[in-house]
Amino acid sequence: MSEHTVRVAAVGDLHCAKTSHAGLQPWLSRVAESADVLLLAGDLTDYGLPDEAKALVKELSSVRIPTVAVLGNHDIESGHESDVSQIFTDAGIGVLKGSACEMHGIGIAGAKGFCGGFGRHALGPWGETIVKQFVHEAVNEALKLEAALARLRTKQRIVLLHYAPIQKTVEGEPLEIYPFLGSSHLEDPICQYSVSLVLHGDAHRGQPHGLTKTGVPVYNVAMQLLMRQFADTPPFRVFEVAVSDAAAADTVHPQPPMDTREPAAPVAVDAPRGRRATDLVSH
Ligand SMILES: [Fe+2]
Ligand SMILES: [Fe+2]
Repeated sequence: MSEHTVRVAAVGDLHCAKTSHAGLQPWLSRVAESADVLLLAGDLTDYGLPDEAKALVKELSSVRIPTVAVLGNHDIESGHESDVSQIFTDAGIGVLKGSACEMHGIGIAGAKGFCGGFGRHALGPWGETIVKQFVHEAVNEALKLEAALARLRTKQRIVLLHYAPIQKTVEGEPLEIYPFLGSSHLEDPICQYSVSLVLHGDAHRGQPHGLTKTGVPVYNVAMQLLMRQFADTPPFRVFEVAVSDAAAADTVHPQPPMDTREPAAPVAVDAPRGRRATDLVSH
């Protein structure tokens, strides 16, 4: 079966403010030249204000490719989550909250995620009720992600999160705040399903790349990290995903009803040397 490449651009943590977004436009206008799809990994706004969302929509108007986002903690800070989401949705930007869509033959499952820490040092649901509620929030986000993955029928599946599912991509942040930057609960559905790659943000000072315990590549695409790591390129990454022509014939199918649960198929494709902000994902 013949295949072609779909270019997926990704960046998170734009932190668009009402007045300080002038720096976004020059490189956002280059995204459409470099990619077929844009994924935004949360913290789109600084304080979650509708005016900030409107400002970002204006900046994104030059990005004339399908765009899908998840929200971050900053986007819900002011209690206007639904208004902020609606502003993005009205602008044609898909907002995934434990939901999924398909574009160009690629499935995208998205959720904000939550924190609580990683591995054997993660916070457990024990003791005070409020501690249990905190842990349950991370479990609930993981369950939402699992449900979103279950809806996808594509061979290539991308997970879009704000919080990190593994510790590796938050390393570089102060050790004391690791538990507030992600949760291993998010790693479970990623390992359960056949996922091509995972994108997240939030950890501005983290590492650009890591692997889940089953070898799924995880990329931290926080804009601040990309600006530091790839100073000579615009602060977004582009992932080239091989898609069969038959799969790509489908357009966007929000939340398709078919459950395509499959055993996990480890994928361990690292960024090819010399390509800087472009990575190849193919299987
Ligand atoms: Fe952020
Ligand atoms: Fe964040």
